[in-house]
Amino acid sequence: MNTKKMILAVVFFTMVSSNLLFSQRQTWSETKEQKAQRMEWWTNDRFGMFIHWGIYALPARHEWVQLYEKIPAAEYKKYFDHFNPDLYDPKEWAAKAKKAGMKYVVLTTKHHDGFCLWDTQYTDYKVTNTPYGKDLIKPFVDAFRAEGIRIGFYYSLIDWHHPHFAFDRGHPPVPTDPEERKKENAKRDMNIYRQYMKDQLRELLTQFGQIDELFMDFSYPGEGGKGHKDWDSEGLARLARELQPQIIINNRMDLDHTDWGWDYITPEQFMPQEWPTVNGERVPWETCQTFSGSWGYYRDQYTWKSTHQLIVMLIETVSKGGNLLLNVGPTARGVFDDRANERLDGIGKWMRFHDRSIYGCTQAPDEYQTPQNCLLTYNPETHRLYIHVLEWPFKSLHLPGLKDKIEYVQLLHDASEIKFHSRTQSGSHTVETSRENDVILTLPVERPNHDVPVIEIFLK
Ligand code: GLC
Repeated sequence: MNTKKMILAVVFFTMVSSNLLFSQRQTWSETKEQKAQRMEWWTNDRFGMFIHWGIYALPARHEWVQLYEKIPAAEYKKYFDHFNPDLYDPKEWAAKAKKAGMKYVVLTTKHHDGFCLWDTQYTDYKVTNTPYGKDLIKPFVDAFRAEGIRIGFYYSLIDWHHPHFAFDRGHPPVPTDPEERKKENAKRDMNIYRQYMKDQLRELLTQFGQIDELFMDFSYPGEGGKGHKDWDSEGLARLARELQPQIIINNRMDLDHTDWGWDYITPEQFMPQEWPTVNGERVPWETCQTFSGSWGYYRDQYTWKSTHQLIVMLIETVSKGGNLLLNVGPTARGVFDDRANERLDGIGKWMRFHDRSIYGCTQAPDEYQTPQNCLLTYNPETHRLYIHVLEWPFKSLHLPGLKDKIEYVQLLHDASEIKFHSRTQSGSHTVETSRENDVILTLPVERPNHDVPVIEIFLK
Protein backbone atom coordinates (compact mmCIF):
# COMPACT_ATOMS: atom_id res chain seq x y z
CA MET A 1 0.00 0.00 0.00
CA ASN A 2 1.50 3.40 -0.92
CA THR A 3 1.37 6.33 1.47
CA LYS A 4 -1.55 8.01 -0.27
CA LYS A 5 -3.65 4.85 -0.05
CA MET A 6 -2.66 4.42 3.57
CA ILE A 7 -3.73 7.95 4.46
CA LEU A 8 -7.03 7.38 2.69
CA ALA A 9 -7.54 4.11 4.58
CA VAL A 10 -6.82 5.78 7.92
CA VAL A 11 -9.20 8.66 7.12
CA PHE A 12 -11.89 6.16 6.08
CA PHE A 13 -11.39 4.05 9.23
CA THR A 14 -11.53 7.12 11.47
CA MET A 15 -14.75 8.25 9.82
CA VAL A 16 -16.41 4.87 10.21
CA SER A 17 -15.36 4.41 13.83
CA SER A 18 -16.29 7.94 14.89
CA ASN A 19 -19.65 7.41 13.24
CA LEU A 20 -20.07 4.20 15.14
CA LEU A 21 -19.11 5.91 18.34
CA PHE A 22 -21.52 8.71 17.56
CA SER A 23 -24.41 6.36 16.97
CA GLN A 24 -23.54 4.47 20.14
CA ARG A 25 -23.59 7.69 22.08
CA GLN A 26 -26.96 8.43 20.56
CA THR A 27 -28.49 5.16 21.63
CA TRP A 28 -29.97 5.26 25.09
CA SER A 29 -30.06 2.04 26.93
CA GLU A 30 -30.27 1.17 30.58
CA THR A 31 -31.40 -1.76 32.67
CA LYS A 32 -34.68 -1.77 34.58
CA GLU A 33 -32.71 -1.29 37.79
CA GLN A 34 -30.86 1.69 36.37
CA LYS A 35 -34.13 3.23 35.29
CA ALA A 36 -35.70 2.65 38.70
CA GLN A 37 -32.66 4.30 40.26
CA ARG A 38 -32.86 7.29 37.91
CA MET A 39 -36.50 7.70 38.85
CA GLU A 40 -36.03 7.09 42.56
CA TRP A 41 -36.52 10.70 43.73
CA TRP A 42 -39.62 10.98 41.56
CA THR A 43 -41.28 7.80 42.84
CA ASN A 44 -40.43 8.87 46.34
CA ASP A 45 -41.68 12.47 46.14
CA ARG A 46 -45.11 11.70 44.69
CA PHE A 47 -46.46 15.24 44.66
CA GLY A 48 -45.66 18.07 42.26
CA MET A 49 -47.04 21.41 41.13
CA PHE A 50 -47.92 22.03 37.50
CA ILE A 51 -47.98 25.66 36.40
CA HIS A 52 -49.74 26.80 33.24
CA TRP A 53 -48.86 30.37 32.54
CA GLY A 54 -48.76 32.46 29.42
CA ILE A 55 -50.54 35.29 27.66
CA TYR A 56 -53.79 33.28 27.75
CA ALA A 57 -54.01 34.38 31.39
CA LEU A 58 -55.26 37.75 30.09
CA PRO A 59 -58.43 36.56 28.36
CA ALA A 60 -58.74 34.27 31.42
CA ARG A 61 -60.96 31.86 29.50
CA HIS A 62 -58.81 28.71 29.13
CA GLU A 63 -55.35 28.19 27.64
CA TRP A 64 -57.00 26.97 24.43
CA VAL A 65 -59.01 30.17 24.03
CA GLN A 66 -57.29 31.07 20.76
CA LEU A 67 -58.47 27.84 19.18
CA TYR A 68 -61.81 27.52 20.95
CA GLU A 69 -62.89 31.03 19.98
CA LYS A 70 -61.11 30.95 16.61
CA ILE A 71 -59.26 34.15 17.41
CA PRO A 72 -57.13 35.28 14.45
CA ALA A 73 -53.44 35.76 15.27
CA ALA A 74 -53.65 39.51 14.64
CA GLU A 75 -56.35 39.78 17.27
CA TYR A 76 -54.75 37.41 19.79
CA LYS A 77 -51.75 39.73 19.67
CA LYS A 78 -53.50 42.15 22.02
CA TYR A 79 -52.72 39.76 24.86
CA PHE A 80 -49.06 39.75 23.89
CA ASP A 81 -49.13 43.55 23.76
CA HIS A 82 -50.62 43.78 27.25
CA PHE A 83 -48.77 41.04 29.10
CA ASN A 84 -47.23 42.69 32.15
CA PRO A 85 -47.32 40.53 35.30
CA ASP A 86 -46.13 43.25 37.62
CA LEU A 87 -46.77 41.21 40.78
CA TYR A 88 -44.75 38.19 39.61
CA ASP A 89 -42.68 36.93 42.51
CA PRO A 90 -41.65 33.31 41.99
CA LYS A 91 -40.35 33.16 45.57
CA GLU A 92 -43.93 33.52 46.71
CA TRP A 93 -45.03 30.71 44.36
CA ALA A 94 -42.22 28.46 45.54
CA ALA A 95 -43.06 29.07 49.19
CA LYS A 96 -46.69 28.11 48.53
CA ALA A 97 -45.69 24.96 46.68
CA LYS A 98 -43.36 23.98 49.49
CA LYS A 99 -45.97 24.60 52.15
CA ALA A 100 -48.46 22.45 50.23
CA GLY A 101 -45.92 19.61 50.33
CA MET A 102 -45.06 19.67 46.65
CA LYS A 103 -41.57 18.42 45.88
CA TYR A 104 -41.25 19.26 42.21
CA VAL A 105 -42.67 21.77 39.78
CA VAL A 106 -43.38 21.68 36.06
CA LEU A 107 -43.70 25.00 34.25
CA THR A 108 -45.10 25.63 30.75
CA THR A 109 -42.13 27.17 28.96
CA LYS A 110 -44.21 27.34 25.76
CA HIS A 111 -47.83 26.31 25.38
CA HIS A 112 -49.81 25.55 22.21
CA ASP A 113 -50.19 29.24 21.35
CA GLY A 114 -46.42 29.33 20.83
CA PHE A 115 -45.67 32.12 23.32
CA CYS A 116 -42.31 31.59 25.06
CA LEU A 117 -41.59 32.46 28.68
CA TRP A 118 -37.84 32.82 28.23
CA ASP A 119 -35.53 34.92 26.11
CA THR A 120 -35.18 32.39 23.29
CA GLN A 121 -33.16 33.49 20.31
CA TYR A 122 -35.35 31.55 17.87
CA THR A 123 -38.52 33.64 17.89
CA ASP A 124 -39.68 37.15 18.68
CA TYR A 125 -42.83 35.72 20.22
CA LYS A 126 -41.41 35.79 23.71
CA VAL A 127 -41.84 37.48 27.04
CA THR A 128 -38.89 39.82 26.59
CA ASN A 129 -40.80 41.54 23.78
CA THR A 130 -43.93 42.11 25.86
CA PRO A 131 -44.36 45.16 28.12
CA TYR A 132 -42.97 43.02 30.96
CA GLY A 133 -39.71 42.79 29.04
CA LYS A 134 -37.87 40.26 31.23
CA ASP A 135 -37.20 36.53 31.20
CA LEU A 136 -39.55 34.69 33.55
CA ILE A 137 -37.80 31.36 33.79
CA LYS A 138 -34.42 32.05 35.40
CA PRO A 139 -35.92 33.72 38.50
CA PHE A 140 -38.46 30.91 38.59
CA VAL A 141 -35.92 28.08 38.69
CA ASP A 142 -33.79 29.96 41.22
CA ALA A 143 -36.73 30.52 43.55
CA PHE A 144 -37.97 26.93 43.44
CA ARG A 145 -34.51 25.43 43.79
CA ALA A 146 -33.93 27.64 46.82
CA GLU A 147 -36.90 25.85 48.43
CA GLY A 148 -35.43 22.47 47.54
CA ILE A 149 -38.04 21.87 44.84
CA ARG A 150 -36.99 20.06 41.68
CA ILE A 151 -37.55 21.62 38.27
CA GLY A 152 -39.53 20.29 35.33
CA PHE A 153 -40.23 21.93 31.99
CA TYR A 154 -43.38 21.53 29.93
CA TYR A 155 -42.87 22.19 26.21
CA SER A 156 -45.67 22.16 23.67
CA LEU A 157 -45.03 20.18 20.50
CA ILE A 158 -48.04 21.94 19.04
CA ASP A 159 -47.46 25.52 17.97
CA TRP A 160 -50.28 27.70 16.65
CA HIS A 161 -47.93 30.59 16.01
CA HIS A 162 -44.94 29.12 14.17
CA PRO A 163 -45.17 29.85 10.42
CA HIS A 164 -43.86 26.37 9.53
CA PHE A 165 -46.08 24.30 11.81
CA ALA A 166 -48.20 22.45 9.23
CA PHE A 167 -51.96 22.73 9.58
CA ASP A 168 -53.61 19.46 10.59
CA ARG A 169 -57.02 18.23 11.63
CA GLY A 170 -56.95 20.18 14.87
CA HIS A 171 -54.16 22.77 14.75
CA PRO A 172 -53.67 25.62 14.31
CA PRO A 173 -57.24 26.97 14.41
CA VAL A 174 -57.46 27.95 10.70
CA PRO A 175 -58.16 26.88 7.99
CA THR A 176 -60.63 24.07 8.54
CA ASP A 177 -61.30 23.30 4.87
CA PRO A 178 -58.97 20.40 3.83
CA GLU A 179 -58.31 21.87 0.35
CA GLU A 180 -57.47 25.26 1.76
CA ARG A 181 -55.30 23.48 4.33
CA LYS A 182 -53.35 21.73 1.60
CA LYS A 183 -52.72 24.98 -0.22
CA GLU A 184 -51.56 26.67 2.95
CA ASN A 185 -49.39 23.75 3.95
CA ALA A 186 -47.50 23.90 0.67
CA LYS A 187 -45.95 27.07 2.08
CA ARG A 188 -44.99 25.41 5.35
CA ASP A 189 -41.90 23.33 5.94
CA MET A 190 -42.01 21.05 8.97
CA ASN A 191 -38.24 20.52 8.73
CA ILE A 192 -37.84 24.09 9.84
CA TYR A 193 -40.27 23.59 12.71
CA ARG A 194 -38.53 20.38 13.80
CA GLN A 195 -35.23 22.22 13.93
CA TYR A 196 -36.89 25.06 15.86
CA MET A 197 -38.04 22.64 18.56
CA LYS A 198 -34.56 21.15 18.87
CA ASP A 199 -32.96 24.58 19.09
CA GLN A 200 -35.39 25.64 21.78
CA LEU A 201 -35.06 22.40 23.71
CA ARG A 202 -31.30 22.85 23.66
CA GLU A 203 -31.72 26.34 25.13
CA LEU A 204 -34.05 25.09 27.83
CA LEU A 205 -31.82 22.20 28.77
CA THR A 206 -28.55 24.12 28.78
CA GLN A 207 -29.39 27.56 30.17
CA PHE A 208 -31.20 26.76 33.39
CA GLY A 209 -29.10 24.17 35.20
CA GLN A 210 -30.34 20.69 36.05
CA ILE A 211 -33.82 19.94 34.73
CA ASP A 212 -35.42 16.93 36.36
CA GLU A 213 -38.59 16.34 34.38
CA LEU A 214 -39.54 17.03 30.77
CA PHE A 215 -43.22 17.17 29.88
CA MET A 216 -43.68 17.23 26.08
CA ASP A 217 -47.24 17.89 24.94
CA PHE A 218 -48.73 16.23 22.84
CA SER A 219 -49.16 13.78 19.92
CA TYR A 220 -52.29 12.78 18.03
CA PRO A 221 -51.04 10.35 15.39
CA GLY A 222 -53.10 9.00 12.50
CA GLU A 223 -54.97 10.54 9.59
CA GLY A 224 -54.64 14.32 9.63
CA GLY A 225 -52.79 14.27 12.96
CA LYS A 226 -49.20 14.41 14.10
CA GLY A 227 -46.99 11.76 15.67
CA HIS A 228 -43.38 10.92 16.35
CA LYS A 229 -42.25 11.29 12.73
CA ASP A 230 -43.72 14.77 12.47
CA TRP A 231 -41.91 15.92 15.59
CA ASP A 232 -38.82 13.73 15.15
CA SER A 233 -39.57 12.60 18.67
CA GLU A 234 -36.65 10.22 18.74
CA GLY A 235 -34.34 13.10 17.92
CA LEU A 236 -35.91 15.23 20.66
CA ALA A 237 -35.73 12.48 23.26
CA ARG A 238 -32.12 11.71 22.35
CA LEU A 239 -31.20 15.36 22.59
CA ALA A 240 -32.85 15.63 26.00
CA ARG A 241 -31.07 12.53 27.31
CA GLU A 242 -27.77 13.69 25.90
CA LEU A 243 -28.00 17.12 27.51
CA GLN A 244 -29.53 15.98 30.81
CA PRO A 245 -28.95 12.24 31.27
CA GLN A 246 -30.89 12.12 34.55
CA ILE A 247 -34.01 13.74 33.10
CA ILE A 248 -37.37 11.98 33.41
CA ILE A 249 -39.50 12.22 30.26
CA ASN A 250 -43.26 11.82 29.89
CA ASN A 251 -44.97 9.68 27.25
CA ARG A 252 -46.59 12.22 24.96
CA MET A 253 -44.15 12.17 22.07
CA ASP A 254 -45.72 9.05 20.53
CA LEU A 255 -42.73 6.86 21.37
CA ASP A 256 -44.65 3.94 22.83
CA HIS A 257 -42.83 1.62 20.43
CA THR A 258 -39.51 2.38 22.15
CA ASP A 259 -38.46 1.44 25.66
CA TRP A 260 -36.24 4.51 26.05
CA GLY A 261 -38.28 7.38 24.64
CA TRP A 262 -40.55 7.72 27.66
CA ASP A 263 -40.35 7.07 31.39
CA TYR A 264 -43.86 7.41 32.70
CA ILE A 265 -47.43 7.68 31.51
CA THR A 266 -49.73 10.63 32.01
CA PRO A 267 -53.43 9.99 32.68
CA GLU A 268 -55.04 13.43 32.63
CA GLN A 269 -58.07 14.70 34.51
CA PHE A 270 -59.41 11.32 35.56
CA MET A 271 -58.58 8.76 38.23
CA PRO A 272 -57.42 5.38 36.89
CA GLN A 273 -59.28 2.49 38.44
CA GLU A 274 -56.05 0.71 39.25
CA TRP A 275 -52.29 0.99 38.77
CA PRO A 276 -51.96 1.40 34.97
CA THR A 277 -50.05 -1.20 32.99
CA VAL A 278 -48.28 -1.30 29.62
CA ASN A 279 -47.91 -4.75 28.03
CA GLY A 280 -49.15 -6.27 31.26
CA GLU A 281 -46.55 -4.57 33.44
CA ARG A 282 -47.19 -1.85 35.98
CA VAL A 283 -45.50 1.36 34.86
CA PRO A 284 -44.60 4.62 36.58
CA TRP A 285 -47.47 7.07 36.22
CA GLU A 286 -48.22 10.65 37.03
CA THR A 287 -51.71 12.00 36.79
CA CYS A 288 -52.03 15.70 36.05
CA GLN A 289 -55.09 17.37 37.49
CA THR A 290 -56.62 20.81 37.65
CA PHE A 291 -58.40 22.70 40.39
CA SER A 292 -61.30 23.67 38.17
CA GLY A 293 -61.02 22.08 34.71
CA SER A 294 -58.97 24.70 32.87
CA TRP A 295 -55.17 24.69 33.12
CA GLY A 296 -54.68 28.36 32.39
CA TYR A 297 -56.26 30.93 34.71
CA TYR A 298 -60.03 30.95 34.09
CA ARG A 299 -61.78 33.72 35.95
CA ASP A 300 -65.37 32.58 35.48
CA GLN A 301 -65.08 28.84 35.94
CA TYR A 302 -67.18 27.51 38.78
CA THR A 303 -66.29 23.86 38.88
CA TRP A 304 -63.60 23.99 41.53
CA LYS A 305 -62.77 20.84 43.42
CA SER A 306 -62.89 21.14 47.19
CA THR A 307 -59.76 20.82 49.32
CA HIS A 308 -61.11 17.55 50.63
CA GLN A 309 -61.54 16.17 47.10
CA LEU A 310 -57.98 17.17 46.27
CA ILE A 311 -56.53 15.55 49.36
CA VAL A 312 -58.41 12.34 48.63
CA MET A 313 -57.17 12.56 45.04
CA LEU A 314 -53.57 12.71 46.25
CA ILE A 315 -54.06 9.78 48.60
CA GLU A 316 -55.88 7.70 45.99
CA THR A 317 -53.13 8.37 43.43
CA VAL A 318 -50.43 7.16 45.83
CA SER A 319 -52.60 4.21 46.87
CA LYS A 320 -52.36 3.07 43.23
CA GLY A 321 -48.63 3.67 42.96
CA GLY A 322 -48.77 7.01 41.14
CA ASN A 323 -47.70 10.65 41.34
CA LEU A 324 -49.98 13.69 41.38
CA LEU A 325 -49.09 16.81 39.42
CA LEU A 326 -51.59 19.39 40.58
CA ASN A 327 -52.01 22.49 38.45
CA VAL A 328 -52.16 26.17 39.29
CA GLY A 329 -52.95 28.77 36.63
CA PRO A 330 -51.54 32.10 37.86
CA THR A 331 -53.28 35.34 36.87
CA ALA A 332 -51.90 37.82 34.37
CA ARG A 333 -50.73 39.99 37.29
CA GLY A 334 -48.49 37.05 38.24
CA VAL A 335 -50.13 35.69 41.38
CA PHE A 336 -52.15 32.65 42.39
CA ASP A 337 -55.79 33.58 42.89
CA ASP A 338 -57.62 33.18 46.20
CA ARG A 339 -59.36 29.96 45.27
CA ALA A 340 -56.04 28.33 44.47
CA ASN A 341 -54.41 29.70 47.62
CA GLU A 342 -57.21 28.39 49.79
CA ARG A 343 -56.79 24.89 48.39
CA LEU A 344 -53.01 24.90 48.59
CA ASP A 345 -53.25 26.04 52.21
CA GLY A 346 -55.72 23.28 53.02
CA ILE A 347 -53.57 20.62 51.40
CA GLY A 348 -50.53 21.98 53.24
CA LYS A 349 -52.34 21.83 56.54
CA TRP A 350 -53.12 18.18 55.97
CA MET A 351 -49.66 17.38 54.61
CA ARG A 352 -47.93 18.90 57.63
CA PHE A 353 -49.24 16.06 59.78
CA HIS A 354 -49.65 13.32 57.20
CA ASP A 355 -46.93 13.53 54.57
CA ARG A 356 -45.44 10.34 55.98
CA SER A 357 -48.28 8.44 54.35
CA ILE A 358 -47.44 10.04 50.98
CA TYR A 359 -43.66 10.39 50.51
CA GLY A 360 -41.90 7.12 49.88
CA CYS A 361 -45.24 5.32 49.80
CA THR A 362 -46.95 3.23 47.20
CA GLN A 363 -49.73 0.72 46.70
CA ALA A 364 -49.96 -1.72 49.61
CA PRO A 365 -49.09 -5.34 48.82
CA ASP A 366 -52.15 -7.45 47.98
CA GLU A 367 -52.04 -9.30 51.30
CA TYR A 368 -53.30 -6.14 53.05
CA GLN A 369 -56.96 -5.73 52.28
CA THR A 370 -58.48 -2.29 52.24
CA PRO A 371 -61.02 -1.83 55.04
CA GLN A 372 -64.40 -0.29 54.22
CA ASN A 373 -64.36 3.45 53.34
CA CYS A 374 -60.58 3.59 53.49
CA LEU A 375 -57.57 4.00 51.23
CA LEU A 376 -54.27 2.27 51.95
CA THR A 377 -50.74 3.33 51.25
CA TYR A 378 -47.60 1.49 52.25
CA ASN A 379 -43.98 2.39 52.80
CA PRO A 380 -41.80 -0.55 51.76
CA GLU A 381 -38.70 0.92 53.44
CA THR A 382 -40.17 1.39 56.90
CA HIS A 383 -42.67 -1.42 56.47
CA ARG A 384 -45.55 0.74 57.67
CA LEU A 385 -49.10 0.65 56.48
CA TYR A 386 -51.26 3.78 56.35
CA ILE A 387 -55.01 3.62 56.61
CA HIS A 388 -56.71 6.78 55.37
CA VAL A 389 -60.15 6.80 56.91
CA LEU A 390 -62.57 8.57 54.57
CA GLU A 391 -65.65 7.96 56.72
CA TRP A 392 -64.95 7.76 60.45
CA PRO A 393 -66.55 4.59 61.79
CA PHE A 394 -67.95 4.06 65.22
CA LYS A 395 -65.20 2.65 67.43
CA SER A 396 -64.26 -0.53 65.59
CA LEU A 397 -62.23 -0.73 62.43
CA HIS A 398 -61.80 -4.26 61.17
CA LEU A 399 -58.57 -5.22 59.43
CA PRO A 400 -58.85 -8.56 57.66
CA GLY A 401 -55.98 -10.98 57.94
CA LEU A 402 -53.61 -8.89 60.07
CA LYS A 403 -53.56 -11.02 63.20
CA ASP A 404 -50.00 -11.40 64.55
CA LYS A 405 -48.66 -9.02 61.94
CA ILE A 406 -48.97 -5.77 63.87
CA GLU A 407 -46.39 -4.38 66.23
CA TYR A 408 -47.92 -1.01 67.08
CA VAL A 409 -50.70 1.33 65.94
CA GLN A 410 -51.16 5.07 66.27
CA LEU A 411 -53.04 8.00 64.83
CA LEU A 412 -50.58 9.72 62.54
CA HIS A 413 -51.42 13.36 63.28
CA ASP A 414 -50.73 13.21 67.04
CA ALA A 415 -48.91 9.90 67.51
CA SER A 416 -51.54 8.76 70.00
CA GLU A 417 -51.83 5.05 70.57
CA ILE A 418 -54.64 3.03 69.05
CA LYS A 419 -55.39 -0.18 70.86
CA PHE A 420 -56.12 -3.32 68.92
CA HIS A 421 -57.20 -6.88 69.58
CA SER A 422 -58.14 -10.08 67.85
CA ARG A 423 -60.38 -11.69 70.38
CA THR A 424 -63.93 -12.76 69.97
CA GLN A 425 -66.32 -11.23 72.43
CA SER A 426 -69.82 -12.34 72.99
CA GLY A 427 -72.35 -11.94 75.71
CA SER A 428 -75.69 -10.35 76.27
CA HIS A 429 -74.39 -6.85 75.32
CA THR A 430 -71.99 -7.65 72.52
CA VAL A 431 -71.73 -9.91 69.55
CA GLU A 432 -68.57 -8.34 68.23
CA THR A 433 -66.69 -11.15 66.62
CA SER A 434 -63.45 -10.83 64.87
CA ARG A 435 -63.08 -13.30 62.06
CA GLU A 436 -60.15 -15.61 62.39
CA ASN A 437 -56.93 -13.68 61.65
CA ASP A 438 -58.67 -10.31 61.72
CA VAL A 439 -57.61 -7.42 63.89
CA ILE A 440 -60.00 -4.87 65.35
CA LEU A 441 -58.72 -1.38 66.03
CA THR A 442 -60.44 0.53 68.81
CA LEU A 443 -60.86 4.07 67.53
CA PRO A 444 -61.89 7.10 69.57
CA VAL A 445 -65.54 7.95 69.09
CA GLU A 446 -64.71 11.50 68.16
CA ARG A 447 -63.34 11.85 64.67
CA PRO A 448 -59.95 13.60 64.65
CA ASN A 449 -60.28 17.12 63.36
CA HIS A 450 -58.32 16.55 60.17
CA ASP A 451 -59.53 16.39 56.61
CA VAL A 452 -58.69 12.73 56.25
CA PRO A 453 -57.49 11.08 59.49
CA VAL A 454 -54.72 8.53 59.03
CA ILE A 455 -53.83 5.49 61.10
CA GLU A 456 -50.22 4.41 61.05
CA ILE A 457 -49.52 0.71 61.49
CA PHE A 458 -46.04 -0.52 62.34
CA LEU A 459 -45.95 -3.98 60.85
CA LYS A 460 -43.83 -6.70 62.34
C1 GLC B 1 -53.58 18.81 27.32
C2 GLC B 1 -53.93 20.18 26.88
C3 GLC B 1 -53.24 21.25 27.56
C4 GLC B 1 -52.63 21.00 28.90
C5 GLC B 1 -52.18 19.58 29.09
C6 GLC B 1 -51.78 19.24 30.49
O1 GLC B 1 -52.75 18.16 26.51
O2 GLC B 1 -53.77 20.36 25.51
O3 GLC B 1 -53.86 22.46 27.46
O4 GLC B 1 -51.50 21.72 28.93
O5 GLC B 1 -53.09 18.70 28.63
O6 GLC B 1 -51.43 17.91 30.61
